Amino acid sequence: MSTQEQARLEFERYFGHPPSFVVRAPGRVNLIGEHTDYNDGFVLPIAVDRAVWIALGPTFTQKVILHSLELKRSAEFSLEKIKHENQEWVEYIKGIAWALQQAGYLLKGWEGLITSDIPMGAGLSSSAALELAAARAFAAVSGYPWEAIKMAQIGQQAERDWVGVNCGIMDQMISALGQAGHGLLIDCRSLKTESVPLPPDITVVVLDTATRRGLVDSAYNERREQCKMAARFFGVPALRDVSQTEFDAKAEALDPVVFRRARHVIKENIRTLQAAHTMSQKDAVKLGQLINASHISLRDDFEVSSPELDQMVDCAQQESACYGARLTGAGFGGCAIALVHADAVQKFTETVTINYQTATGLQPEIYVCTATDGATITSI
Ligand code: GLA
Repeated sequence: MSTQEQARLEFERYFGHPPSFVVRAPGRVNLIGEHTDYNDGFVLPIAVDRAVWIALGPTFTQKVILHSLELKRSAEFSLEKIKHENQEWVEYIKGIAWALQQAGYLLKGWEGLITSDIPMGAGLSSSAALELAAARAFAAVSGYPWEAIKMAQIGQQAERDWVGVNCGIMDQMISALGQAGHGLLIDCRSLKTESVPLPPDITVVVLDTATRRGLVDSAYNERREQCKMAARFFGVPALRDVSQTEFDAKAEALDPVVFRRARHVIKENIRTLQAAHTMSQKDAVKLGQLINASHISLRDDFEVSSPELDQMVDCAQQESACYGARLTGAGFGGCAIALVHADAVQKFTETVTINYQTATGLQPEIYVCTATDGATITSI
């Protein structure tokens, strides 16, 4: 049974009547362009075939009534006065309602059954997926047109100003605008996007280290500050505006840590644009090299890797079928990705699982994923 069908049936079982819509918003992995989004730079993520699904129908009141299938929890809130209540997953949906209201949308209430197959806390953006699914739900019930970029911005605002996580725009953009079979090159300043086809015979494999790090938020915010300091030093709004030549000419006077943070961002932007180009040339070998270089830079200059992520990347890169591997997402734990020759994926998965297990004593989760479309809606 498809997840859409399951969401529909579970809605009917829980609420006692059929839903009007099923919405779906995917998680993501980032191929390259890490810690560049909040520097107004470039990213190249794909939307994966793991998603949040909400089956829903109107309540004809101002009430939003929710049930989460996986968490076996229910909640409700009123659109008349949205309050913080520290209700974890519900706050993301309230945050969307709040941000939509701030932007002037007139919202109607709905009842929804939520189900998800995105592992939580693994760095695959389950929260952005929940935000975009909720935004699609509000759009459907309230009767306003779906504007993907605007809704990605609403998602980011909800996460930043309601939930309190100071994220960039990448996760929401890809969950809203992903395209099947393609990576999405996003200019995080103009929000212009370009779909880039994945090279043929390439499979994207997600390698979950089975580690989750606390303190990610503070380390993330610290890096954002360091990037801002570097931009101030160069007298520009964001590191996006610093060329390699300008960096080479002036950067020596920077504090050594800030120097390395800035070097990562500047080079990662260049690598990301090159990666999009090599993808359009169907050059998997060159793409793999850029991905490997990104990992080294994240490990040594940006310092967001971990022993387990390094180990996982190492295990992947040792396989001859692997074109390239690196950590993906914020770092410190969670997932790496590998680009693997499609014919050899099974052997790759088996060998990497055993080698990672032997080296760390941890049981990794390995998913083969395909690039899917961004947030969708089906009328029932
Ligand atoms: C997290 C954030 C994104 C981005 C990445 C790092 O996933 O939510 O906005 O900054 O980290 O590239």
